[in-house]
Amino acid sequence: MDVLGIESSCDETAAAVVGATGVRADVVYGQAVHAAFGGVVPEIASRAHAEHVVPVVRAALAEAGIERPDAVAATAGPGLVGAVLVGLCFAKAAAAGWGVPFIPVNHLEGHLLSALLEDPAPEFPFLALVASGGHTTLYLAEGVGRYRTLAETVDDAVGEAFDKVARMMGLGYPGGPVVDALAAKGDPKAVPLPRPRVGDLDMSFAGLKTAVRTALEKRPDTRPEDMAASFQAAVCDVLVDRAKRGARLTGVERLAIGGGVAANAGLRAALSASGLQVFLPPRSRCTDNAAMIANVGRLRLLAGHVGTLEATARPRWPVGEG
Ligand code: KG4
Ligand code: ZN
Repeated sequence: MDVLGIESSCDETAAAVVGATGVRADVVYGQAVHAAFGGVVPEIASRAHAEHVVPVVRAALAEAGIERPDAVAATAGPGLVGAVLVGLCFAKAAAAGWGVPFIPVNHLEGHLLSALLEDPAPEFPFLALVASGGHTTLYLAEGVGRYRTLAETVDDAVGEAFDKVARMMGLGYPGGPVVDALAAKGDPKAVPLPRPRVGDLDMSFAGLKTAVRTALEKRPDTRPEDMAASFQAAVCDVLVDRAKRGARLTGVERLAIGGGVAANAGLRAALSASGLQVFLPPRSRCTDNAAMIANVGRLRLLAGHVGTLEATARPRWPVGEG
């Protein structure tokens, strides 16, 4: 069964085909237009999705060598509502036209289950750290659709912290990849920064961001490489610590990661050295893509869940809720 997935929740217009043997096509159009504005402009994102969704879907079907999928899945939230609506409405119309089932997919569930597309894939139950531009949550995944939140950020998402720190340092948007590249050439011990903790498991990144701002003001001569490396090391320490605590709490040692920040080289290295059994999707499957959406659609369809054509965008949609 080949499922066409469509993703349009932020600034990537993406389509992919996932079948029984895995990913058959994976096309991502990244909307570079937002860089000039220093962040994603929702109206521009929606228009760009409307412009690119058809060519991107055509390219995915051609890459998979099929004319018609057996089902269509699309991100229905969380995300920018206007952007989500473009992919969602297109997907519903396509499913109706082809006469195949339609499955609305939660974007976060896409990130959460990304590692299942890889070989080896983690077996349930596994811990899943989703670290993206809008979310930072450690889940216990017990099965498809069965997720327990173990820890989450009480303020900024970790990707947001990367973007804000990059902005303070005048590095442009999106900040994560630039900070990542700079950090590789810096000293992670150069600038002392806090490792904030909230209770046993929750996280907070707003204080860390403020500490970077203060350090930049106090020590304006700090090499950008050293500031980036010090910030990234603090983030990695916090995330690795929470993952280990989650493992101790649940007795589950398998950890999958997903979301844009999971593409971070420092985090990937730190988690690989953590003693946990880590499952790292390739970097291109950590940042937004449609293979993860097709994957969830396919798993849900196999479990007997089909959506209706009345499904609408859900800007805020807690993962695991029907
Ligand atoms: O999952 P994603 O592509 O979109 C959302 O669902 O939000 O995540 C985007 C976030 C941005 O904040 C971006 O700066 C961050 O992921 N990001 C990274 C890296 N690549 C993307 N953060 C750290 N290191 C990276 N290499
Ligand atoms: Zn995402």
